[in-house]
This record gives sequence, structure tokens and C-alpha cells, in this order.
Amino acid sequence: LRPTHRLLSCPGTVAADVKREEQSSRNVETGSEDRTPKKKFSEVQKERREQAQRTVLIHCPNKISEKKFLKYLSQHGPISNHFFYESFGLYAVVEFCQKESVTSLQNVTRTPSMDTEAAVPFKSRFFNVKMKNPSNQTSEQSCIQYSNHTPPSSKKLSELLCYAESIDDQLNTLLKEFQLTEEDIKLRYLTCSLIEDLAAAYFQDCTVRPFGSSVNSFGKLGCDLDMFLDLGEIGKFNTNKTSGNFLMEFQVKNVPSERIATQKILSVIGECLDHFGPGCVGVQKILNARCPLVRFSHQASGFQCDLTTNNRIALKSSELLYIYGALDSRVRALVFCIRCWARAHSLTSSIPGSWITNFSLTMMVIFFLQRRSPPILPTLDYLKTLAGAEDKCIIEGHNCTFISDLNRIKPSGNTETLESLLKEFFEYFGNFAFNKNSINIRQGREQNKPESSPLHIQNPFETSLNISKNVNQSQLQKFVDLARESAWILSQEDKDRPSPSGNRPWGLATLLLPSVVKSVSLAKKKRKKPASERIKNLLESIKSSSPENDTNTNGK
Ligand code: GTP
Ligand code: MG
Repeated sequence: LRPTHRLLSCPGTVAADVKREEQSSRNVETGSEDRTPKKKFSEVQKERREQAQRTVLIHCPNKISEKKFLKYLSQHGPISNHFFYESFGLYAVVEFCQKESVTSLQNVTRTPSMDTEAAVPFKSRFFNVKMKNPSNQTSEQSCIQYSNHTPPSSKKLSELLCYAESIDDQLNTLLKEFQLTEEDIKLRYLTCSLIEDLAAAYFQDCTVRPFGSSVNSFGKLGCDLDMFLDLGEIGKFNTNKTSGNFLMEFQVKNVPSERIATQKILSVIGECLDHFGPGCVGVQKILNARCPLVRFSHQASGFQCDLTTNNRIALKSSELLYIYGALDSRVRALVFCIRCWARAHSLTSSIPGSWITNFSLTMMVIFFLQRRSPPILPTLDYLKTLAGAEDKCIIEGHNCTFISDLNRIKPSGNTETLESLLKEFFEYFGNFAFNKNSINIRQGREQNKPESSPLHIQNPFETSLNISKNVNQSQLQKFVDLARESAWILSQEDKDRPSPSGNRPWGLATLLLPSVVKSVSLAKKKRKKPASERIKNLLESIKSSSPENDTNTNGK
């Protein structure tokens, strides 16, 4: 179970320049098509990382005076931003203007004395604050107002979609409701930064970077937090730093392969998180996977974390997706819609298996948008031709070069609506020759399948690999059937669209509510029934969504 996040923004204390900075990076992250220059992926990462390093996480008593709390903390230096959230208790994320304030706070913080248990001492940036005189403070507590940042329940979502004015409006609503909030993004970078403090005990100067949907702009609220332990300089073997007659090398322990080295590093970090990591619970070392990882829950933030190392290509994939997401505002709206649609119909799952993954679905949307006429997205090969000398990037022999400055990529002249793109997406993949063709975003056109997996999506950087090798024939067939079904539902929508009175599901609402799709599908099979009866069926299926069916639509 993921804890809910109830977030409270406190704009009053945000310094104006920091606020402006955030505003402009938020534009990049939402992919909106304003003409302000968009930041490079590496710039966003660097800024957020630096921000996280001067931020602390504090577990607070429920009855706390916000004013006094902030005043108390400001003794250590000015605060540039803060917010509260709830996750098994009340937490505050406090961002100081300077990193030194954190050290100052750490210097006055004590290790708790335990009655029955013993503490493993560790000076982290995750604190507990207690009140010396709780009775004095309760009166001001009422000024704290919570805003809820959990993804909407199916019921709420259905209402929002029914009241929207057009299918385009529905797709944008879905994006707005599910995309990561500014606070959620900050908490993700902070969590990585806290884990980095722990890993640095073993590997000085290491970096823990978020990747995957937390940073590629396609993350839905509640998605996992993928982290990459970057050993940077320490991990590089060929740097020749000194001049003169001698060459100095570290004495190191040798192991038979790179994979074994990765496993050993992750094993020790896993132990470290398990034994010393405040708030890290349920640590699992999954070292025999194709990409070895340590999975754990960071209880205070509520994130399910996957920590990997030696995984630079995945970080590069995140950058590529970030660029695609920022090039045109229709990209993210469509990807969110397809991710939600796939989740609603159990095409994707948080459990690994023969299901299609969100990563594969995103690639399919990108490929589809490259195939439009005129194309909405450029091919990866084209992005490579735009790259400058500073963009050159070879990882483990794979050419991962593409342009990093997305302001230099010409916007598409294509003006198709989201509604038409969605319908075309379902039609395109409902009729795609999966048996003989491979999806290839590098060239932006179908290729002959090099092997017999039911679904073949070429890994854009390790081009001999298939990112959807896990998908079996029956899951692919389910995807195709649902795509056809959805294309049909959308074409019917054209014929009898209701006036948006909000009392019956239409457009996206019918696509995202499995019970409705089932009943529409039934209605399709018995098409002789009068329209009034079909509508009655629809209404009944909505009514029958009892409260226990009203689960959050979060997760992958
Ligand atoms: P969520 O479902 O929201 O977590 O999406 P995600 O994009 O974060 O996917 P996931 O957590 O499964 O994987 C994290 C990242 O690892 C992806 O964004 C990709 O960059 C990379 N990745 C995942 N699966 C594959 C794969 O099969 N092959 C390769 N090369 N990279 C993958
Ligand atoms: Mg992920």
C-alpha cells in the first residue's frame, strides 16, 4: 500500500527569484508550448540536485505551529521554500537558501535515547522534531490547510471527464490530474539525495540520480522512484591525472566480471540501507535480474524505490524521453492517456511479468507520432544529426549521441487534435503488422522483425535488444483487441455525443472505465438493441461501481 500524500504549499515564504526559477522549470516539465527557452535535461537535474542538497526532511508532531516551527528553523539560515505533507504522520520538507544551514541544524541535533531499543547513530538530513511545551502551541495549528495531491479516485476522475467540454479537454484534464506535482518532484530529488548521503559512507563522491518516469516527464502520481548510483570518477579506470614518470593506481579487489562488481556494490548498499537507512524498509536485493537492483520502500516519502548502478544508458533514455515530452504538448497528454488506458484494462501491472510496460507504451506513442504526416516528433537519427560536439556520448560502445538543447529543434507543423490522434493511435496499432514488423524510433519507420518475439520494440541505444521481449502473444492480442474496441468506441462517440451535462460518461470516460467498456462491448455485439437501452446499460454499469470498486487509479 502506498501512503497518501497530502501536501501543503506555503507560497508566502518563497523568495521571488527562486519562485521564478521554479516556474520556468515547471514549464519545461509540463511540456507546455510557451516560447520561453526550455532547460536542458542536465540543467534541470543539476538545479534540482543542488536544491535537494540544501533541503531537509522533518517528521513533525500533528499539532505544530507552522509559524513557530519556521521561526525556529530560520535560526540556522533563511528558508527559501517549504511544504508539509502527510504520509503515516506529518512531514515537512524545508529548503534552506544555503547548504551551511543544514550543517548548522545537524550540529544542534541529538541522537535519541531509547528506552527499550538501541539507536544506530547516523547524522542524516532526516529529523524528528518534538515540542518542548506542546500545550502552548496548539492554538495556532488551525492555520495549516491541506491540499490533497493523490491521484483522483475513479469516481472523481469519471466526474471530471464527464464535465469536460471536448475529448481534447478530457486528455488535458487527465494529464493535469495525474502528472507529478512540483512538491512531488522535489520530494523525489530529496529522497535520492538522502540515499546518496548513505551511499557516500562507502563510496565518497558518488551520486544518486533519479531516472525513469520520475524525471522523463511521463511520471504519474504514485509511480516508483528509479535511482541510479553513479560512482562517477571512482568508477572510471582510464583517467590519467598525474604527469611525471610514475602512474599511480588504487589497490582494488578484482572480481571476474563487471556484473559481479555491480552485484557486490549493490549488495553492500542494500545492507547499508537495511541496517542504517532511516525510513528505509522492506529492502530486497534482486541481484540476479538482468539489471541487478535493490528495491525498498522509503517510508517517509512513501516512494517505492529501485536502486541500480552501472546503468548510464537508462539515464540517457530518460533524457531522450524528456526531450520528446517537451517538444510538443500533445505528446505528454497522449502518453498519459495511453498509460491510464492500459492500466485501467490491466494491460500493465506493477508486478513484473509478460505484460507490456509503460516504457514500451511510451515508445509506441513516440513511434506513432513520428509516423504522422507531417511528423509530430523527429526520429532519433535526426536528433543525432543535430548534435554538437559537446553532445557526443558513447556508453559501453553504444552511440547514445543526440542533441541536448531542445530549443534548437524545429517545432512540428502538424495541427491534428488530440481527439483525432487518440483515435488514429488505436486504429494504427489495432491494425499494425506485429507479426512481421518491429517498432523503431531511431529510424521512425517499421523494420523487419529480427527475432520472433510477439512484440518487437527496438531498444533505441542498444539496438540489438528488444525492450518488449517479455510480452507474450496473449498479452499482445489483448492490447490489439482493446485498441480496436477503443477505436470503435471513439468513432461511435462522433455520432451521438451528448451535450456535456455531466450525467453520463462519454469520450475518455468510456475508454478508461473497464466496466463501461465491457458493457459497450456487449452492446456492440447486440447492436440491434435500441440506443436508449445501450445508454441504460451504461448508466447501470456506472451505478454498480460500488465504493469498494472505487480504488485509486494510481500505480504503474
Ligand atoms: P513507470 O512505470 O512509471 O515506473 O515508468 P518508467 O519509465 O519509470 O519504467 P521503469 O520503472 O520500468 O523503468 C525505469 C527506466 O528504465 C525506464 O524509463 C527506461 O529508461 C529503463 N527501462 C525500463 N525497462 C527497460 C527495458 O526493457 N530496456 C531498457 N533498455 N531500458 C528499460
Ligand atoms: Mg519507474
